[in-house]
Amino acid sequence: MSFQTRWSSPSNIAIIKYWGKFGRQFPCNPSISFTLNKSKSIFEVSVLESNSLAVNYTFENENNDKFKARIEKILKAWCDFEPEIATLSFNISSSNTFPHSSGIASSASSMSALALATLDILYQKKNLDIDREFYKKASFLARLASGSASRSVYGEFNLWGETELMNNSSNEEAIPISFHENFKHIQDSILIVSSDEKEISSSLGHELMNSNYFAQTRFDQARENTRDLLNALETGDFDHFGTIAEAEARSLHALMLTSEPWFFLLKENSLNIMAKVREYRQKTQRPLYFTIDAGPNIHLIYPPDNEIKSFIDSELIQYTENNKIIHDEIGLGPEKLS
Ligand code: DP6
Repeated sequence: MSFQTRWSSPSNIAIIKYWGKFGRQFPCNPSISFTLNKSKSIFEVSVLESNSLAVNYTFENENNDKFKARIEKILKAWCDFEPEIATLSFNISSSNTFPHSSGIASSASSMSALALATLDILYQKKNLDIDREFYKKASFLARLASGSASRSVYGEFNLWGETELMNNSSNEEAIPISFHENFKHIQDSILIVSSDEKEISSSLGHELMNSNYFAQTRFDQARENTRDLLNALETGDFDHFGTIAEAEARSLHALMLTSEPWFFLLKENSLNIMAKVREYRQKTQRPLYFTIDAGPNIHLIYPPDNEIKSFIDSELIQYTENNKIIHDEIGLGPEKLS
């Protein structure tokens, strides 16, 4: 018997950052993100029953040995939890809606899409309907592939990692969280400062937290920020939300500077944008804030506002590489396409 499916799954942007892990992909602190709308990966997966696990893979219609090896490794790891995977021969093709090397991290979108598509196949084989349990399992599998991917199987705001503040929170998978309507249309304009390949992988960055002098203080800080962000999300306080977002981004990059060996991913223009955003906010009192992933590109967070958008397009574009800005926003999550 053969089975096939196609899923699209978006990237997400963390406001409370996951940085540091233990055991089998468990986070050292809870993290909170919102799922994006436009920046997605699309995975088409078909399988045939076979004696052993086999993978054929193309990315945007071309062979990609590096990513194929990563997918094989992940599917093997998933066999510990879904042993049927070991009896399938996979034909996988994927693409992204954002340009390659655009500086957008593709691991959250691609690993969540792979988890959803693979689990969909297993569900088809067992004649099961896609239900809440399906998404819970998909988030669990996505986490094993890449921590941040666990938060992409749902739309809007999600939390991953155990916290006493949320009853059903877990280190194993992410959960959707409720939020005030002030965040319903939150924007994320991504300013591409550099699209160069990352010098340091996130995995190595996480590992360096094991010996970072400030690690425990950082995990405590993230827990406090989680509590404050949940509060801001509930009350609709956008300025409090933005203040925490910036503090988290600055901490993340400070941790890189204080790792041994240390590294630093921000560029001169990343710092220029950070300073301009602060100056603009002080001058206009408008709610424009930044957050930053493990790279030099700056995510600008704000409620829909034409004044802010034209400030970005006219004043901040000069700090980007080849005028590259991706205007994205909060999205509703993955979709089964066929
Ligand atoms: C800075 O999820 O990419 O974006 O679990 O090793 O795949 P792995 O790491 P990854 O780390 C993301 C780090 C971050 C913060 C975040 O998204 O929470």
